[in-house]
Amino acid sequence: MSTTYRICLLPGDGIGPEITAEAVKVLGAIGAREGVGFEFAEALLGGIAIDETGTALPDATLEAAHAADAVLLAAIGGPKWDTTDPDKPRPEQGLLGIRKALGLYANLRPVKLFAPLAGASTLKPEALEGVDMLIVRELTGGLYFGERAREYDVPEAGVGGAAGQRAYDTMEYREFEVERIARVAFEAARTRRGRVHSVDKANVLESSRMWREVVHALHAAEFGDVELVDQLVDNTAMQLIRWPAQFDVVVTENMFGDILSDEASMLTGSLGMLASASLGDGTALYEPSHGSAPDIAGQGIANPLAMLLSVELMLRHSFAMHDAADALSSAIEGVLAEGWRTRDIADEETPAERVVDTAAMGDLVAGRLGRA
Ligand code: IPM
Ligand code: MG
Repeated sequence: MSTTYRICLLPGDGIGPEITAEAVKVLGAIGAREGVGFEFAEALLGGIAIDETGTALPDATLEAAHAADAVLLAAIGGPKWDTTDPDKPRPEQGLLGIRKALGLYANLRPVKLFAPLAGASTLKPEALEGVDMLIVRELTGGLYFGERAREYDVPEAGVGGAAGQRAYDTMEYREFEVERIARVAFEAARTRRGRVHSVDKANVLESSRMWREVVHALHAAEFGDVELVDQLVDNTAMQLIRWPAQFDVVVTENMFGDILSDEASMLTGSLGMLASASLGDGTALYEPSHGSAPDIAGQGIANPLAMLLSVELMLRHSFAMHDAADALSSAIEGVLAEGWRTRDIADEETPAERVVDTAAMGDLVAGRLGRA
C-alpha cells in the first residue's frame, strides 16, 4: 500500500489562496513522482474565519490541524480587519492561537541565497557572499504571549495631566522555554557550520539576562563542540547588513526573531523567498514568513516561492522525504537559473518575457519536477 499524507491547508487571506493553489499543484507533481498520495483538508483561519464564523481560530480549524500529518498555512490579515479596539477580533489572533495550541515553540527560518538572485538584493553582491543562515525564533513565549492589558480612565495618564489610557505588554520567559529553543539551535548548528549566535538585550532586559544564563548552562553541559556567541539585538540588526556571512544559526526571542527575520529576508532579495517551519512536539506547521500582501491580492502576481520553499521544509521535517525536498529545491533553483522571475524578484535586466505570474511560476516548478 502506498503512503498517503494528510495536509491541513489554511489559505487564509490576501494572496494566501493564490499561493496555496501553487503549493497544491507542486505537491501533485511530487506525489506523482514519488508514488505518494497527499490528501488535503482546507480550513478557515484569520480574516476569512472572522467573516464566516466570528472568530479568527474556529474550533473546527484546530480539529482539522490536529487530525493532519502537517499544516500548510499561507498568510492571514488585511486592512479590512485592522483595528486598534482590543475587543474586536483580529486575524493575527488566529495565527498566534494556532501556534500556541499546537505547541509550536520553534520557528525555523532559513535564509538561503539562490545564486541567480544575487542581484535582486539591495545589498552589493560581495556583501552577500557566503550567506546561509538559520534563524531559530522562539514562537510561543516572550513579548507575544506575556501579560498585556489596556486600562482606561487612569489618573494622569492622559495628555496634559488628564485621566487617560495605559497599556502594557510583558516579555516573560520560563527557563524550560529558553532551554528547549536553545537545544533546537545547538542541534541545528551541529548539522551545519557549528556556530550559534544567541541574540538578546541582556544589557537592559531581565528576561534576556536569564535567557543568557540558561543558554550558557546548556552549552556548557551538552554542546561544548558548538561555538556560542552572545550578541545584543541592536548589534545583530547592524551586523546582518554589515557582514551577514558571519551567521550560521541565530536563536532569539519571539519578537526579536520576528523583526530580524524580515530584515534578513532582504539578503535573499525578497520577503517572497523566506520560508518557515514551526515545530513542537506534535503536528508541525509550515508557512512563508511574508504576510498576506493585500495590496496585490487577487491579481495573480504574488511570488509563490516562499510557499513552495515551505513545502520543501514540510517534506523534510514532517515526511522525511529528503529526495523529494532536494528535487523541489533544485527545481526552484533551475527555474531561477533560467531567468524566470515574479515581479518582486525581477530587476531592470530581467527581460519582460521572463517576468511571470503566480500560476506560471508554479507551472514552471511543477514542470521541472515532472520532467526529472
Ligand atoms: C510572522 C508574522 C506574524 C508574526 C504576524 C502576521 C502576526 O509577521 O510570522 O513573522 O508577527 O509572527
Ligand atoms: Mg513577521
